[in-house]
Amino acid sequence: MSPSATPAKITAEAIRAMKARGEKIAALTAYDFPMARLLDEAGIPLLLVGDSVGMVVLGYPDTTHVTLAEMEHHVRAAARAKPRALLAADLPYRSYETVESAVASARRLVAAGAEAVKAEGGRAILDQVRAIVSAGIPFIGHLGMLPQHVLEEGGYHIKGKQDEERESLLADAEALASAGAFAIVLELVTSAAAVEVTRRIRIPTIGIGAGPDCDGQILVSHDLLGLWPWYNLKHVKPKLNAAEQMRAAARQWKLELSK
Ligand code: KIV
Repeated sequence: MSPSATPAKITAEAIRAMKARGEKIAALTAYDFPMARLLDEAGIPLLLVGDSVGMVVLGYPDTTHVTLAEMEHHVRAAARAKPRALLAADLPYRSYETVESAVASARRLVAAGAEAVKAEGGRAILDQVRAIVSAGIPFIGHLGMLPQHVLEEGGYHIKGKQDEERESLLADAEALASAGAFAIVLELVTSAAAVEVTRRIRIPTIGIGAGPDCDGQILVSHDLLGLWPWYNLKHVKPKLNAAEQMRAAARQWKLELSK
């Protein structure tokens, strides 16, 4: 690359092509300008304004409280970083119950700066997925444990343990790929089921708590950075203890003030 050449903007097609090259896809959540800019500067190719913003930033107990207006607000903030990374955003709870609402909600996120959208579900939302893709909006699927269903399901449970669940996961993944999704997040899925889905479909799988063998991995950045110290998650080894560093910095500054 010549010194003056700027690296090309990452597209949905570029993310998809990483699977064919056997290149692992690293994806992280970003909910605001500094996080999007820092993670982009670190070379992360896929950033997600996840509805996990509701828990780790807004203090809700789960993602079912997040509104489309809140998602637009955070997408606008992250998009101001003008990342080279592809910037995807979650369609929040109940914003894609019909084909019409799905397309309208996806368009609002795109108008706010998202370059792709993600929604939870497989065959149950196939008409919505087809309509979003037909509207020219790149789409990421999300299968396995679906956080927007946590209340019906009574918690965050691992999927794909039984044959029937594995078959259903495979059928959902194949349906999403045929409907035009360019990647699928697999959340809290057994490693064996994740391997099977990853082998079976041509688009990348991006795992979270789904073992090491997906085409990529996604994490909530707060978990990676130790910025959310109140839960211990099995699938994340924090690379930083930012929460303790923040407390220590604040204590130190307070002490210095009173000297
Ligand atoms: O909202 C989110 O952060 C997500 C990731 C966990 C995949 O959907």
